[in-house]
Amino acid sequence: MLKVFSNPTQIVTVNTSGKNYKRGKEHNDIGLLSGYSLVVEDDIIKDFIPNTSVKNYETDEIIDVKDKIILPGLIDCHTHTAFAGTRSDEFRDRLKGKTYEEIAKTGGGINKTVAAVRRASTEELINTISPRIDYFISQGVTSLEIKSGYGLDFENEVKMLKVISFLNSNYEIDIIPTFLGAHTFPPEARDNHRAYIDLIENDMLLYIAHNDLAKFCDGFCEATAFSLTELEEIFRKAKSHGLAIKIHTDQFRNLGGIDLALNLKAASADHLEVVDDEDIKKLGNSEIACVLLPGTSFFLNVPYAPARKLIDNNAILALSTDYNPGSSNISNINLIMSIAALKMKMTIEETISAFTINAAKALMISEDKGSIEIGKKADLAIFNTNDYADIVYNVGRNMNYMTVKNGNVIYIAD
Ligand code: NIG
Ligand code: FE
Repeated sequence: MLKVFSNPTQIVTVNTSGKNYKRGKEHNDIGLLSGYSLVVEDDIIKDFIPNTSVKNYETDEIIDVKDKIILPGLIDCHTHTAFAGTRSDEFRDRLKGKTYEEIAKTGGGINKTVAAVRRASTEELINTISPRIDYFISQGVTSLEIKSGYGLDFENEVKMLKVISFLNSNYEIDIIPTFLGAHTFPPEARDNHRAYIDLIENDMLLYIAHNDLAKFCDGFCEATAFSLTELEEIFRKAKSHGLAIKIHTDQFRNLGGIDLALNLKAASADHLEVVDDEDIKKLGNSEIACVLLPGTSFFLNVPYAPARKLIDNNAILALSTDYNPGSSNISNINLIMSIAALKMKMTIEETISAFTINAAKALMISEDKGSIEIGKKADLAIFNTNDYADIVYNVGRNMNYMTVKNGNVIYIAD
């Protein structure tokens, strides 16, 4: 089946000439094409043809996208979308001056959401999460990572991952599952870390790997969560089961998480709000995707990650919403792009590379996703504007007109 997406004003290809990521200065090179239409065969990008030749082109379908621009489908590579309940009470407390960490230390924070997820049935979770996925799709998202990490015991971590797996099979987009059992210690393990780590290593990881319930193992390296040595042990076990590694690190403190990520060849190091110059240098020469989450800094009112320094040191930068109820109750990708531009001084082009090809790199799917290159999957976000700058300029406005997954139109705006 051949389809032509005809007469767009621009195609933002994010071309990488087959390299499949961008680092340093390359982030700015978004491979802009004007005057071309896009040919898709089944689920694959087949060709770029001049607009003038569309009328003579033999095709099964022409989809007119005049006065629109085509981007690669957006990729949100770090989310905690599978949560239940609310933390609006903590939001009120933070507005009065309490910090996120103070709330966590007194039993709130992540563990408040853990209680809500443990209470929720599988069906309730599916009903709660589905509209959130619909919203991502309406914004042009074609691949979405979702973490567990609010179950924190065998039954409830598995429940979360099975819900994520069900949602993946029910939605056209790719939902990539990450096991985040090492998010924090649950209340029953506060005084017995060893028992919880054993549970992760001996029971959870075994079951999850055996049942193919997660691609990645993630962990939170912080004073209120897991120490470096605790995480290293868990990650080595996860790797031995074939899971790839992601790490929440350097959000509030530098505990050495970057070295751990480098040693274990993690796919990504996420957060990095307080990353120091020495670690920036190391990241700059590495293959690790640095996933920055400016929504968290905005929502918690804390300093932003040093995006410019990372780019100047030749790092590979991705952006994500970090959508979660406690530190970034934001699932609006346009807003995150604008915050990244305004607060972290990223260029418009850099924010686009960071939400497409480099987000794909962070999820280890960039070989066939994240850019519009011949042979790659036809995952597209088609925006209702004549200039890609509008996506970042129109702060928080969803300008997506059409979402295309594997060559199929799965969403059209009213
Ligand atoms: O990425 N930092 C740890 N985890 C999440 C927050 C989760 C929560 O507060 O519920 C984050 O910011
Ligand atoms: Fe997170």
